[in-house]
Amino acid sequence: MPDLRINPSILSADFVNMQADLERIASADFVHADVMDNHFVPNLTFGPQMVERIQQTSPVPLDVHLMITDPDRWAPGYAEIGAASVTFHLEAATAPITLARRLRQLGARAGVAVKPATPVEGLYDVLDEFDQILVMTVEPGFGGQSFMADQMPKLARLHDEARRRGSQVWLQVDGGISESTIAQAAEAGADTFVAGSAVFGADDPGQAIEALRREASA
Ligand code: DX5
Ligand code: ZN
Repeated sequence: MPDLRINPSILSADFVNMQADLERIASADFVHADVMDNHFVPNLTFGPQMVERIQQTSPVPLDVHLMITDPDRWAPGYAEIGAASVTFHLEAATAPITLARRLRQLGARAGVAVKPATPVEGLYDVLDEFDQILVMTVEPGFGGQSFMADQMPKLARLHDEARRRGSQVWLQVDGGISESTIAQAAEAGADTFVAGSAVFGADDPGQAIEALRREASA
């Protein structure tokens, strides 16, 4: 049984029935919380207050994805709230290594995300500073977009490089992940899968999670 994780994104949940929607994804590995500030991306979601309530309410650990400017300043607060992992964007961080160390110091898994046009080669020498790397498979900002298969070669190179160096870093994909696209991402080396519309758009989110797990490990 391969070691893989399915992280439903609550961007596609019902924001006024969040508790009920969290219960519907109790079989998930992590709850993926997308924080957007309307600056780094052209969309706005929620901030630390909401994430803290989700953290207190959810039995499933939290995977926070920060699509915000100035993560150097704001990301540690999400680790302090108790998020299991905090991922910031490489494009937005001033001192990514310092920030990753701070997140770990605060007890969170440190994650770094790259947009589709951002190369990952610069991360090869510092893989050990991170617990997870998120390769975006859509332009960040919105749920329900189409999976960018053209990101697979980048992911595969990162995977090969990580294994060659003996790194245990988790490789995450986010955007357009569904029953029909997840196998491609798994094949390219992803082990952690974010899915918003594919989970919350299903009649039974629990079944959708299991279907994704099945396809990813096929
Ligand atoms: C998009 C967010 C994703 C989003 C994915 O910028 O980072 O987490 O919720 O949604 P789907 O799975 O619908 O593409
Ligand atoms: Zn996300």
